[in-house]
Amino acid sequence: MAQAIVETIDVRKNFDLVEVLRGVSFALGKGETLVVMGGSGSGKTVLLRLVAGLVRPDAGQIRVFGRAIELLSEEELLTVRRRMGFVFQGAALFDSLSVYENVAYPLREHTSLPEPEIRQRVVRNLSLVGLGSEALELLPAELSGGMRKRVGIARALSVDPEVLLFDEPTGGLDPTNSKLVGELIRELRGGVCDTAIVVTHDLELAKTVADRVAVLIDGRFATIGSVDAVLETTDSAVQAFLAGDAR
Ligand SMILES: Nc1ncnc2c1ncn2[C@@H]1O[C@H](COP(=O)(O)OP(=O)(O)OP(=O)(O)O)[C@@H](O)[C@H]1O
Ligand SMILES: [Mg+2]
Repeated sequence: MAQAIVETIDVRKNFDLVEVLRGVSFALGKGETLVVMGGSGSGKTVLLRLVAGLVRPDAGQIRVFGRAIELLSEEELLTVRRRMGFVFQGAALFDSLSVYENVAYPLREHTSLPEPEIRQRVVRNLSLVGLGSEALELLPAELSGGMRKRVGIARALSVDPEVLLFDEPTGGLDPTNSKLVGELIRELRGGVCDTAIVVTHDLELAKTVADRVAVLIDGRFATIGSVDAVLETTDSAVQAFLAGDAR
């Protein structure tokens, strides 16, 4: 594999007495999109938060850009986090801030760029997700669900990330908008950011964007491989998940 951008080795995470992750190992190569599927509550968001250094593992190792992030101080973590873009579950825009300010937010937080440069990047990133400058002054409440997701993606692109982390990017969208967001994620790979982890329930999205799919069951990846290989799995737990839970 090309240089690993993210690598986890036997990562474990409990909350109280619940063992959420019980030994998750994978390596994400540069230029690769890994889709993580699994039922509600299986630990997908927890896994993304571990990779982002927002949560610490109880055991195991997490390397991001070659650095063992479980050993880093909060300050060192910031320098790693600055190289990643997050698209949070539900888009999570700031309701009181305009589209412009939402997309500019990471730039204000992580850089000291002058305003004209910020404006240029905001406009560029909105256009990358298919939104024109007429959207700049709108508030999140004035956007459709699909537009909100796009603004969330534009915000994640602000820092010119080397890896994008998506949490349910099509959650709550109708099939048409889901398809559009899937195509957008696929397009981003060829351009601004070629490496991603995409957490989703949505098998159609997995088919559109995945180089590999991993299915999280009982705290571990029950399978990891190409979409076709996963669909043809003989693992009964994965078959049951795909037949029932995946939608
Ligand atoms: N900060 C926390 N404190 C306590 N328990 C937590 C915390 N974060 C997550 N959990 C628990 O960890 C488990 C996995 O949660 P997680 O949010 O990762 O699930 P998920 O796979 O993302 O589900 P969904 O598909 O519904 O988003 C759940 O049982 C949840 O209650
Ligand atoms: Mg989740």
